[in-house]
Order: sequence, then structure tokens, then C-alpha cells
Amino acid sequence: MTSRSLILALGADHGGVALKTRLAAALVEAGHEVQDYGTDGPASVDYPDYAQAVCAAVAENRADFGILVCGTGIGMSIAANRHPAIRCGLAHDVTTARLTRAHNNANVLALGARIIGEEVALDILRAFLATPFEGGRHERRLAKLTRITEPAP
Ligand code: RB5
Repeated sequence: MTSRSLILALGADHGGVALKTRLAAALVEAGHEVQDYGTDGPASVDYPDYAQAVCAAVAENRADFGILVCGTGIGMSIAANRHPAIRCGLAHDVTTARLTRAHNNANVLALGARIIGEEVALDILRAFLATPFEGGRHERRLAKLTRITEPAP
């Protein structure tokens, strides 16, 4: 997956819980540490609660990256991107996973369990974790993102 051992914060709603379990197993197998913020079963829950827990772990440097799974990945990505310290990329393929790390320096990955298959999700996760931020011109753009979330003077 990636040679460096990472701490990963995982969260899902009922639409993503099965895929989260599969991703957690693969991450542990690859030697990473997983912090699982739930949910743990099929009962209907609200995705912002899980996005908030995972984003707090990343923002407070308790985890290197966050992985959020819901039905489409959209609700989780909207929720995560409201957090000023979070850049969440919603990926449906390896290319978007790679580019959201390389260009956006995403620190959270959102996945849609009802949109992509398990093998695609695993490939996305591997690409996300293996890709470094390119820096350079992208630094300037990320600085502008930060300014959007700062309160007006
Ligand atoms: C839950 O039914 C569903 O709305 C949720 O998993 C997600 O797709 C929201 O964006």
C-alpha cells in the first residue's frame, strides 16, 4: 500500500460500513494503524457525526489521514470540507485519488460505497496513500483555500 506506517482515522455511515470494514482490514494487513470512529452496524445514522469525528482526529494530528465512506461519498465530502483544516477529496477512480493528493494535498479521502466496487475502492486507497503532495504552484492555491475559511477582518 505504502512503505511508511500510517495512522488512519476511518468513519462511515450505514451506507458505507461494510466497505469501511474491508478497507480497515486491508490497512491493518498492510501494517498501518487504524482508528475506527464507527458506525459499526447497519442501523441508519447521520454521516456528519462520523465526518466530524474523523476530521477532528486529522486536524488534531491524532491521525495522518482520514477515510470516510457513505453511500455516494458526497455527504461525507461536503461535511468534511466544512472543517477549516480539512481538504477532503471524493474519489471514484485511481486518477482522482492520485490527483487529490498531488494537487489538493487532501488529508481526507471520501468514498461512495454504492458507486464503486470493493476492488476499485482498495485501488483508490492505495493510490491515495502512495501519492505525495507536489507542492509548487499548488501551495499558492491551498493558501487561498485557507483564506476562504478565515473570518473576514
Ligand atoms: C444514506 O442513505 C445516504 O444518504 C448517505 O450514505 C450518503 O450517500 C449521503 O451523501
